[in-house]
Amino acid sequence: MPVKLLALAGSTRAGSLNQALLDLAAKAARERGAEVTEIRLKDYPLPLYDGDLEASDFPQTARDLKALFCGHHGFLIASPEYNGGVSGVLKNAIDWVSRPTDGENLIALSAFRGKVAGLMAASISPFGGLRGITHMRQVLGTVQTLVATEQVLVPFAHGAFDENWALKEALPAQLLGGLAARVIELAEKLQPPVS
Ligand SMILES: Cc1cc2nc3c(=O)[nH]c(=O)nc-3n(C[C@H](O)[C@H](O)[C@H](O)COP(=O)(O)O)c2cc1C
Repeated sequence: MPVKLLALAGSTRAGSLNQALLDLAAKAARERGAEVTEIRLKDYPLPLYDGDLEASDFPQTARDLKALFCGHHGFLIASPEYNGGVSGVLKNAIDWVSRPTDGENLIALSAFRGKVAGLMAASISPFGGLRGITHMRQVLGTVQTLVATEQVLVPFAHGAFDENWALKEALPAQLLGGLAARVIELAEKLQPPVS
């Protein structure tokens, strides 16, 4: 079975630089033999996580999103850094997807446990979203996902893409290929569970 990767961005806006970066990573992963499902979190509108809502009426969208996570060996994630951390829309999605459903153990983490992830960020700042990506590592590690040590940061991202959304510089494009290759390699070695 080919490695199946779910690709998502932490920004939902049209013209997102992180979505552009993610598209390139998804292409690089496909070129290396992975089956990539790209989703937009805008298509999965979720309420802010609320324990009472979880108990009374677990959102169908959260179930759908969780099923997608469960059905893939790993994840490609590009997220903007918001005030030094992961974007709220991404964190909220992770929080819902991490919750047990259908009688699962509280800490089953079935959508994340044993999976692999590759992270990237595009930022208008000179630091390329480094703090956000570091935060994302911590969050994904907490839900038992192995995050590749390779990562791709694109600083000054508002000037990094040409009119066709290709990266102007060769180095980040090369790093994206390396990241995609590593995530695929980790998935092949670790054989994460899919359901
Ligand atoms: C609420 C908010 C907080 C932000 N905080 C940071 C930050 O801490 N560090 C940073 O590099 N950029 C920050 N930015 C700027 C983003 O890097 C920039 O808006 C980027 O283009 C967002 O990604 P997108 O193009 O994928 O939507 C922030 C933007 C917003 C809207």
